[in-house]
Amino acid sequence: MLTLDHIQYQVGENNTSKNIIEDISFSFLENTLYVITGQNGSGKSTLAKIIMGILPNTKGKIFLGKKDITKKSIQERVQLGLSFAFQQPVRFKGLTVKNLLDTASNHQYSIKELCEYLSMVGLCARDYIARPLDEKLSGGELKRIEIAMTLAQNKPIMIFDEPEAGIDLWSFDDLVKIFLMLKQQGKTIIIISHQEKILSIADQILVMQQGNIIAHGTPTEILPALSTSTKCIKLVEKGGNHGQN
Ligand SMILES: Nc1ncnc2c1ncn2[C@@H]1O[C@H](COP(=O)(O)OP(=O)(O)O)[C@@H](O)[C@H]1O
Ligand SMILES: [Mg+2]
Repeated sequence: MLTLDHIQYQVGENNTSKNIIEDISFSFLENTLYVITGQNGSGKSTLAKIIMGILPNTKGKIFLGKKDITKKSIQERVQLGLSFAFQQPVRFKGLTVKNLLDTASNHQYSIKELCEYLSMVGLCARDYIARPLDEKLSGGELKRIEIAMTLAQNKPIMIFDEPEAGIDLWSFDDLVKIFLMLKQQGKTIIIISHQEKILSIADQILVMQQGNIIAHGTPTEILPALSTSTKCIKLVEKGGNHGQN
C-alpha cells in the first residue's frame, strides 16, 4: 500500500509562495487501477513526481507499507518497487532502446523478451531495438518506448502520466488491455489521464483541482458529475472525507 499523508508542495518565497499541491492524503492499494484526472495545471504531474521523489514535498509523509519513504531518493524508491512513465519522456542521448530497457529494468533481457515488450506497445520491435534515443524518434514513438520500459521494469507500483499523449494512430484498445493485464497481476496502477476509455476501466477515479483531491470514487459515481458543465462545483459540494481511503 502506498500512502500519502498530508502532502503539500509549495513553491516561491514567503509572500509569493504558492501551493501547487495543497493537502493530499490518500492510500493506493494493490490490485487496483486508479485514474487521476482533473484540469490542466491542477497538480497531477507534480503529485506523480512527488511520489517518485523527483520533486520534494514541503509537508507531509509518504509511506510504502509501514516504511516512511519521504526522504528516499528516486533510485531507492525504484528499488522499493515504484516506477514512473513521464508525461514528456526524456531522450537519453547516447543510449539505444535496448540500453534503456536493460538499464531501467536492471536486467539483461533477451532480444525475444525485448521484442515482446515493444510489440505490446505497438512498435514493430526489431526495427527499434538498436535505435538511438535521439531526436529522430517522434514524440509518440518515445512515449511508447517509455511505456515498454515501465513494463520491463515490472514494479509492483506503476505510475503513467498521460500515457495516451502523442499516440494518435495506435489502437487505444491495446493500451487499455495492457492496463487491465497489469491489474490482474496484482499491481497498483496509477494513471493520469483525461481519456474516457481509460477513466471507464478505473476501479477508482481521483479528481484533482487546484492541488487537492476534490473527489474520488468508482466510474459510476464520478463520471456523471464529470460530464456536466458544472462538474467542479458539483464535486466540491459532494465533499465528504475524500482523499482518505
Ligand atoms: N516550480 C514551479 N513554480 C511555479 N509554478 C509551478 C512550478 N511547478 C509547477 N507549477 C505550476 O503548478 C501547476 C500544476 O502543474 P502540473 O502538476 O504540471 O499540472 P497538471 O499535470 O495537472 O497539468 C501548474 O499551474 C504549473 O504551472
Ligand atoms: Mg501533467
